[in-house]
Parts: sequence; structure tokens; C-alpha cells
Amino acid sequence: MNVEQILSQFQATGVESCFHDRHINPQIYAGLNGRNWGIQDYEARGGYAALRKILGKDGGEGLTQDQVIATVKESGLRGRGGAGFPTGLKWSFMPRQFPGQKYLVCNSDEGEPGTCKDRDIMEYNPHTVIEGMIIAAYAMGISVGYNYIHGEIFHAYERFEAALEEARAAGYLGDNILGSSFSFQLHASHGFGAYICGEETALLESLEGKKGQPRFKPPFPASFGLYGKPTTINNTETFAAVPWIIRNGGQAYLECGKPNNGGTKIFSVSGDVERPGNYEVPMGTPFAKLLELAGGVRGGRKLKAVIPGGSSSPVIPADLMMKLTMDYDSIAKEGGSMLGSGAVIVMDETRCMVKALARLSYFYSHESCGQCTPCREGTGWLWRMVDRIEHGQGRASDIDMLDSVAGNIMGRTICALGDAAAMPVRGMLKHFRHEFVHLIEHKTPLVNADATAVKTHG
Ligand SMILES: Cc1cc2nc3c(=O)[nH]c(=O)nc-3n(C[C@H](O)[C@H](O)[C@H](O)COP(=O)(O)O)c2cc1C
Ligand code: SF4
Repeated sequence: MNVEQILSQFQATGVESCFHDRHINPQIYAGLNGRNWGIQDYEARGGYAALRKILGKDGGEGLTQDQVIATVKESGLRGRGGAGFPTGLKWSFMPRQFPGQKYLVCNSDEGEPGTCKDRDIMEYNPHTVIEGMIIAAYAMGISVGYNYIHGEIFHAYERFEAALEEARAAGYLGDNILGSSFSFQLHASHGFGAYICGEETALLESLEGKKGQPRFKPPFPASFGLYGKPTTINNTETFAAVPWIIRNGGQAYLECGKPNNGGTKIFSVSGDVERPGNYEVPMGTPFAKLLELAGGVRGGRKLKAVIPGGSSSPVIPADLMMKLTMDYDSIAKEGGSMLGSGAVIVMDETRCMVKALARLSYFYSHESCGQCTPCREGTGWLWRMVDRIEHGQGRASDIDMLDSVAGNIMGRTICALGDAAAMPVRGMLKHFRHEFVHLIEHKTPLVNADATAVKTHG
């Protein structure tokens, strides 16, 4: 698919991709127009200056490995893949003196429902991921890396491959980068669209050519990763943030966000908004502002609820959500949910929460890899119970049973997919229990069916 076809797809669906002017202080999506993804345009935007800086190719002395890691620690960058783990701290876990092969892996599997930011980064600014990975490899003394890309966005994989070729030809990748003693080989690899392959150890299994099923942890990838060697895995957006941090300093990045929540974050806003799409804003931006950037609730309807960080994050009712800011701490401490991958799913007053949960529960049941009984069996139970409530066949005991099954999955599985299936159930029961009760008692959903007709964007 060529650029024109991709752009026309977005226009046809009304989805805003990253090239619009409704970001606030963008760092990763700045200056993109859908066509300027190539290396010359990237360099014109200041690209590869951070790599030159650490290698001392800009007239300076260069940065040591410890200095690079210290800068990333200072920046307050937290992993954008979902858990928000501090990136500099993760990098410091890599045993740099390990005598054998070490690996760097980028997680571009992006399968969390609602999340569509990484594909835009790879299609429209792939060199920032490449440069971020080279800097990470330098900091941790790694000579080989892979970017594992979701199988259903093959054009992003092809674009990334094209960018890799450009970087190799320009001397930014390969042996003796820019004439230094540092060498780094980077390859792209595509999956086949399984959600579970986004879980880091399932990803490693898949990358090794095996069935994509999570491993028991510990050992963690830092000591036993790809092919059993020390490995560091970060999300696409995490690596994409690194060149800006090295160019401008850790403190500048931290100040762009709020304490403990440095920098900008890309939010994929979807659902009942006028302009669904990707919006990059500083951490700590009020949700109300983000909603405004996305054109407000579609058709001028009333906001009912928001899933703030991808489908596994518990739902937050409108009144509470409108008081929150978009950062890890506000969403967790005040909202009782998670910022997760930053996929913000907006639901208006016409949405039935039982139906929404049935859809989510089906997803998790379908995507369970089947290794552990609580997840394999429990996700199916959850879906079947919510499905029968939705279809007017629920029993009074179902609500307590839902809560109990969710509780029996949480914390009892090999990977966090089990928790991801249980948390939305608990969130829905906490805030919208009355809708489940109403459907069981009256066999009809409790929604505002009189709301005005939806005005479509365009
Ligand atoms: C079921 C499941 C799916 C996941 N999917 C993704 C994904 O698509 N992309 C991603 O970066 N992280 C995903 N993660 C989180 C990764 O395991 C890992 O924490 C992350 O890639 C680390 O990168 P970060 O520190 O930069 O966030 C997933 C986790 C689980 C449990
Ligand atoms: S929790 Fe679910 S997805 Fe994760 S390993 Fe167990 S069965 Fe597989």
C-alpha cells in the first residue's frame, strides 16, 4: 500500500492519524505530514544528532554508557508498553559485563484493543525508533537487536525495513557506527497478530520461532531472555522518546511532564468522539483537554465513561474522569485504574456497559494462550456469563459469580493476561453494577435510548 492509499484510508474512516496540528508540545510526532518519514527529512528535523552526541561526533566528548543511562533515569521516562516501569532503571539491570551475546528487543506488537500509536510511529517516524534503539544498545553494550512488529500491520513492517536499509547505508547501523568502535545490527521481524505475543516472554518465544506462549518468571529477560541470553525489551514509543531526551537533556524531558511522569505521551483516542485518532500531549494534561482535542463527545452527547489505558484498564465513570489528568499517578491513585498503553476509549450515554464488557471478555477468552487453568477456563466463564446477562438470560447469582471468577483469576496465572481479563470485570461491577442488575431483572439494557442521533465526523 502506498502513502496516498494509506492517507485516503484515514480520510475515509474519519480516523485522525498522527499528522495534524492538535498535539501539544509533540516530541515524537512533531512535524510529520505522512510523507516525510525518510532519513533526510528525519535528519533535517534533528534526527541522529543524539547518536552523534553520545559518540562524540558533534565536536563534544561523547557520553559514557553510565551517562546515557543516568540521563534516561533523570528524564523520568516510564515504559510506554503498559506497565510504566522506569526505563533507565530497566536499562541498569542489563549485566553489561556478561561475556556472551546480549540482545535488545523492541516490542511493536501493539495488540491491546484501542491502541494504534506505535504503528503511526513506525510508518511516519521510523528513524526515531531506530535511533532510540541504537542509543539503548550503546548504553547497555548490546550488539544485536530486533523489532518485533504486529503481523496485521504489514505495511508498518515494510516501512520499518525500508528505514533500516536507509540507516545502514548512512552508517548509523552495522559495524563501527560513524567510524566509532561501537557496532550494532538491527533486524525487523513480524508476528502473526496474536495478542499474547505482546507479552514480553511470549514475544521472545515467538521471535525464537516457537509457539508464542509466556514463560514463567523469574528468571526475567534481563538475565534469561532471547535464546537464553540477557535481553532488554522496551515498547516502540519508549525507544522513540530516547533521541529527544539525549538531545535536550533528562531534566527538560521531566519538566515537560510532571514529577515521576516525564515527557509527552501519545494517546489513541477512540470510541464516541468526533475525531478518533492519535494525540501526543504532555503527561499531566487534563483529560478534558484531550477530549477537546479529539473533537468532544460525538454528536454532542453526554459522556458516560472512559476506559483510560487500553481494554485491560478498569473503566472510569464520566464525573470522575473529567477531574483527572492523563498520567500514571492520577489515573491510578485518583481514578483507580491504569494509564496502560494510553488507549482512551470514550463511551457516551447510549452505551450499554454489559454489552461493552461482553465484547471485551470475548476478546480475552479468545486470546488466552491456554497454558494456565484459571485463565483458560476463567476467561471463558466470564464471557459466557456476561453474554447471557446481555441477552436477558442472566441469573441473580451471576453478579457475585462474576466477581468471584474474576477474583480467582487475578494473581494466579503465568502472565498478566489473566489480570487483564479480570480487571475490566471488576471495574464495571464497581461503577456500573446497577446496569447488570437492571438487565437481569428487566431483560432490557439501561441506556439513554432517547439521546440525539449521532453526527458523524467529516
Ligand atoms: C497480555 C499482554 C500483552 C502485552 N502487549 C504489549 C504490546 O502489544 N506492546 C508492548 O509494548 N507491551 C505489551 N505488553 C507489556 C510487555 O510485556 C512489556 O512489559 C513491555 O513491552 C515492556 O516495555 P516498556 O518497559 O517500554 O513498557 C503486554 C503485556 C501483556 C501481559
Ligand atoms: S495467563 Fe492466560 S495468556 Fe497468560 S500464560 Fe496463562 S493462559 Fe496463557
